[in-house]
Amino acid sequence: MKNAAIVLAGGQGKRMKSERPKVLCNVLGEPMLEWVLTACESSEIEDICVIKGWHGEMLDEYISARRSQANIVTVLQEDQLGTGHAVMQAKDYLEQFTDSSVLILNGDAPFIDAATIKDALEFHTEHDCSVTVVTARLENPSGYGRIIRTDTGISGIIEHKDCAPYQLAINEVNSGCYWFKTCDLLEVLGEITNNNAQGEYYLTDCIELLISKGKTADAYMSRNPSVALGANDRRSLLALNDVARSEIICKHLDNGIEFCCTDGVSIGNTVTIGQGTVIHSGVILRGNTTIGENCVIGNNCILENTTVGNNVNLNNVQAYDSTIDDDVKIGPFVQLRPNSHIKRGVKIGDFVEIKNSTIGEYTAVAHLTYIGDSDVGANVNFGCGVVTVNYNGDKKFRTTIGDNAFIGCNTNLVAPVRIGKGAYTGAGSTITKDIPDNALAVERGKEHIKEGYALSKLHNRIEKYEQIKKENEEQESEGGKK
Ligand code: UD1
Ligand code: CA
Repeated sequence: MKNAAIVLAGGQGKRMKSERPKVLCNVLGEPMLEWVLTACESSEIEDICVIKGWHGEMLDEYISARRSQANIVTVLQEDQLGTGHAVMQAKDYLEQFTDSSVLILNGDAPFIDAATIKDALEFHTEHDCSVTVVTARLENPSGYGRIIRTDTGISGIIEHKDCAPYQLAINEVNSGCYWFKTCDLLEVLGEITNNNAQGEYYLTDCIELLISKGKTADAYMSRNPSVALGANDRRSLLALNDVARSEIICKHLDNGIEFCCTDGVSIGNTVTIGQGTVIHSGVILRGNTTIGENCVIGNNCILENTTVGNNVNLNNVQAYDSTIDDDVKIGPFVQLRPNSHIKRGVKIGDFVEIKNSTIGEYTAVAHLTYIGDSDVGANVNFGCGVVTVNYNGDKKFRTTIGDNAFIGCNTNLVAPVRIGKGAYTGAGSTITKDIPDNALAVERGKEHIKEGYALSKLHNRIEKYEQIKKENEEQESEGGKK
C-alpha cells in the first residue's frame, strides 16, 4: 500500500508582498516548500503532488532543479479559492491511491517533521480514522483554525475568522497537516461550500462532512509544537526564522558546541559541527557544511557547502564549496571561492583570495595575495602581494608551484607557468617562464640613481608642510588662551 502526499502551495500569499509564491520564501536560507518536501521524503512518501497557482512556473522550475527522492508532480489551481478547492484540483491524482491514505500538508508550514508524520499515520491507522488532523497547542493561537474536541474525537475545525468569542480561547490549533483515507476524502471533496467569513472553500469542512456520514475524525497532537507555525506575512516569516535558528543552536549546544554570543548566528538545518568547537557572533553556516572538533569559527564567518577538519581557526572568512583540512589557520578577511582545498597546517593571513586551487601542507600565504587556478605544493612561502595571473581576458590557465618554493613579495605569476620545487622568485618579478627546481628567477628593471634630482621639489613640499604645522600650532595656542 503506497501513501501519497499533497502539498498545498497555490496561494500567492499577498501579505508577504513578494514576487515569488509564498512557499518559495526562505526560512534559514531554504524555501518553506523545501522544508515540507524534505519532511515528506524523510517519512518515506514516494509520491507527492504539489498544488501550484500564482506563478506556478516558478514552482515547476524549483522542483525540477531539485534532487528529489520522491516522484513529484504539480497540478495547477487556476484561481485560488481556498484550501479545499486546492485539493479538488488533485482529484484525478488521488484516484490512483484509493486503497490507501493520503497526507495533506500546507506548503507554508515548514516545521512539519518526519516523526510527526509517521506517528500521526500510526494513530490514524490504529484508530481507523477517516481523517486525522495533526494539532499543536500554541501560546498564541491567533490566526489558526481551532480544534473542537468531543468525547470520542473531534467535531470540526473553526477558522479564526469564523470563531465565536468563546472559541477564540481554544489554544489547540490545526497545523494544516492531515491524514485522510483517500476514498473518504474523494467522497466529500465535492460537497464543500464557500459559505464562511472568507468566502473560501475550506479543506477543514471535510471533517464535519465526514462525521455527518458516520465516519470517524480525530486529532493527533504533535510532540513538536512548532509543526503548526506558518508564515502568512514577513513578520511571521521572521518569527519562523528565529524559531528555527534557536532550535538549531540548542541542538548544537546539546552536542557540546560553544556559542559565545548568538547574535547574527544562523546555522542551516543540515550543518554538522564537532564537539568542542566554538562559534562566535555573526557566523552563518549554510548548505552542506561540516565542521570538525575543537575549531574556532570566529566572527562573521560565512561557510557554504564547505568541509572543515579539526583544530581549525577561522576569523572573518568566507568559504564556498571548499575543503579545509586539520590544523589550518585562516583570516581575517579571506575568501575561499569554489573548489579550493586547503591542506593540513596551512596559514592564510589577511586579504587573501583563493579560487579553484589546492594549497599544500604547511604552506603560508600571509597577506594580500590572489591564488586562482593553482596547484601549490607543501611548505611554500608566499610574500606579501603575490598574484597568480590566471586570466588573459579570454581563457583561464593554471599555475603550478613545487614544494618548498619561496615566492617573493609582489610577484606576478603569469599562467600557464610552473615554479620548480625549492625555487625562489625575486620581489616584484613578473614571471612568465617556467622556473627549474631550486633556481632563483628575478625579473625587474635595473635601478637608476640620479643624485640630488629631488631637491627642488622637496623644498616646496617641506615649506608647505611647515606652513600648515605653524598655522595649526597658532590656532591651538589661541584656543588655549580662551
Ligand atoms: C490554514 C487552515 C487553518 C490552519 C492553518 C495552519 C484552512 C481553511 N485553514 O489556514 O485551519 O490552522 O492553515 O497553517 O485550511 N493554498 C492553495 N490554494 C488556495 C489557498 C491556499 O494552494 O486556494 C495553499 C497556500 O499556498 C498555503 C496553504 O494552502 O500553502 C494554506 O493556505 P492559507 O491561506 O495560508 O491558510 P491559512 O489561513 O493559514
Ligand atoms: Ca497559512
